[in-house]
Amino acid sequence: MAVEISADMIIHDVVTQYPQTVKVFQAHGLPCTACQVGARESVAGGARTHRLEVGALLKDLNLVANGQEAEGIKPATKAPVGRGIPLNVMSQGGSDSKIRHIIAIMSGKGGVGKSLVTGLIAVALQRQGLKVGILDGDITGPSIAKEFGARGAPTKTAEGIAPLSTVGGIKIVSMNMFLPDSTDPVVWRGPMISSAIKQFYSDVDWGKLDFLLVDLPPGTSDEAMTVMQSLPVDGVVIVSSPQMLATEIVIKAIKMVQALKGKVIGVVENMAYLTMPDGSRNELFGPSNGAELVSLTGAPLLAQLPIDPEIAMLCDAGLIENYNSDSFDTLASNFTTALKLSAAR
Ligand SMILES: Nc1ncnc2c1ncn2[C@@H]1O[C@H](COP(=O)(O)OP(=O)(O)OP(=O)(O)O)[C@@H](O)[C@H]1O
Ligand SMILES: [Mg+2]
Repeated sequence: MAVEISADMIIHDVVTQYPQTVKVFQAHGLPCTACQVGARESVAGGARTHRLEVGALLKDLNLVANGQEAEGIKPATKAPVGRGIPLNVMSQGGSDSKIRHIIAIMSGKGGVGKSLVTGLIAVALQRQGLKVGILDGDITGPSIAKEFGARGAPTKTAEGIAPLSTVGGIKIVSMNMFLPDSTDPVVWRGPMISSAIKQFYSDVDWGKLDFLLVDLPPGTSDEAMTVMQSLPVDGVVIVSSPQMLATEIVIKAIKMVQALKGKVIGVVENMAYLTMPDGSRNELFGPSNGAELVSLTGAPLLAQLPIDPEIAMLCDAGLIENYNSDSFDTLASNFTTALKLSAAR
């Protein structure tokens, strides 16, 4: 009897029963076969999330499940990547199943220190002996590779795109890797940016990771939505600064996470104060509003990071891995505790 895959079947069930269909999902640009999204999402739902035509997807799934060839879907190397990334390096997918936790770092506003906090959390986790990767979700303004002094064009492994590796062994994928010159602008519309983010996840050979951190650009639009809806994100760290609550922008970010049924793991208040030569704290941007953030999110305050010229200097020099400070230690230990609390919530 002929196999019939219908739109309401769960993606995970389809690929479990008919493993050959993994290639079809990937070739249609739907990388969530092995992740938590695939575990609960129907074929129709997955197609909707990825803005795919469900009819064409179903046709190819049924052809392949019935042992026939679907046009353009034989080997994994025919998958249609390159819609976003100007590079024809392909993966055989599946890296998602080897990643234990995915954490996004968000703020809604620009320049408050999302990339810094992403880098610091990565360094903290790596110093605890964990395997860490950073997906630089800021496609048009990437800064992660620079923070770590990681340079180089992408290479290919048998599994996909090889990430860059930092001195300490943190894996990084950033748009900078794909640009002939890191000062070249990326002039793309939203769907291309979303596509690149999905490819950074599904087409990269991340190997086994304890944590994949996703550094988001400012705003609550394409990149943030793509990450929250297409990646199996365990939780979000919100970065704020003392005056930000007044601008209400951070509240938009928090509401977005809540609307998308995401979990805020914790809040970081950056640029909270400047330590003066006499040791006193100068709250340059106003008094802390960490307490309000905690009550808004129901998540703990992970750290109040001071304005520290050393951190700015180290980031500019690509030496963030050399940073040490008390507030950094606080962030490191609170992050791990908050993750456990969040899992129990
Ligand atoms: N606590 C701090 N002390 C000193 N410099 C800082 C601090 N936090 C961030 N910076 C510096 O401020 C600049 C902006 O920080 P960062 O790039 O992390 O912000 P961002 O929120 O990721 O920005 P964008 O929205 O553009 O992605 C960087 O040069 C960074 O080194
Ligand atoms: Mg940034």
